[in-house]
Amino acid sequence: MIVLKTSEEIGRIRESNHIVANILSALREKVKPGITTGELDTYSEELARKRGAIPAFKGYMGYPYSLCISVNSEVVHGLPSYERALVSGDIVSLDFGVYYNGYYGDAALTVPVGDVSVEAARLIGITERGLYEGIRQAKAGNRLGDISAAVQGCVEAAGFSVVRDFVGHGIGKNLHEEPQIPNYGVRGRGVELKAGMVLAIEPMVNEGTYKVKVLENGWTVVTEDGKLSAHFEHSVAITKNGPDILSVMQ
Ligand code: MF3
Ligand code: CO
Repeated sequence: MIVLKTSEEIGRIRESNHIVANILSALREKVKPGITTGELDTYSEELARKRGAIPAFKGYMGYPYSLCISVNSEVVHGLPSYERALVSGDIVSLDFGVYYNGYYGDAALTVPVGDVSVEAARLIGITERGLYEGIRQAKAGNRLGDISAAVQGCVEAAGFSVVRDFVGHGIGKNLHEEPQIPNYGVRGRGVELKAGMVLAIEPMVNEGTYKVKVLENGWTVVTEDGKLSAHFEHSVAITKNGPDILSVMQ
């Protein structure tokens, strides 16, 4: 069942997402050669608690950290570590969520560390563009497949591939609600989008094959071919005036 939110609830989900967006922005400032992914995790939790918010991922399905940090060929759910220092040329995805005042916020971005290759920069740019192409389709009367097809079309036209095994999701009183939002699909198919839906749209885009595997730690998803992957996510409300991106700074 897809839960429709009142405008008051959307206001609260916006507050949670403002916290997420502000923290992601602070984390992005910290991303430099030499910092460890463990330090970024600790910092994310400190910032959330300072604002009275609870890190949403810690303990979720047993996930042990506050932040998911996925470097280079890691797609999602990379585990932070004080042993892992970032180096120039890396690309790093930061995925963060909070629970605040009864509602969840969830967003992600990928940033370059120091100087990255032209191809890595292009992958990051196309992944973010794919997210915005998807968001543009998030309006009442459209179908879920319109979002999926828009993301896929943008990504594949650029010569990259869309991860199949992980998808976006509804968000609200729960971190993961219906519907699932694949980043591949067919225009005009799927459930009709309605005002009051709040969707976390999150393309994961690979440089090479779309195929992924999970490492032995049970969490970290990596590309099967070892090539790069990028990830962007926004939580978006569908309103009668079109898509409203909630996970922006305030
Ligand atoms: N942003 C991810 C998602 O939307 C959340 C991480 S999953 C967790 O599914 F298990 F690590 F929390
Ligand atoms: Co998400």
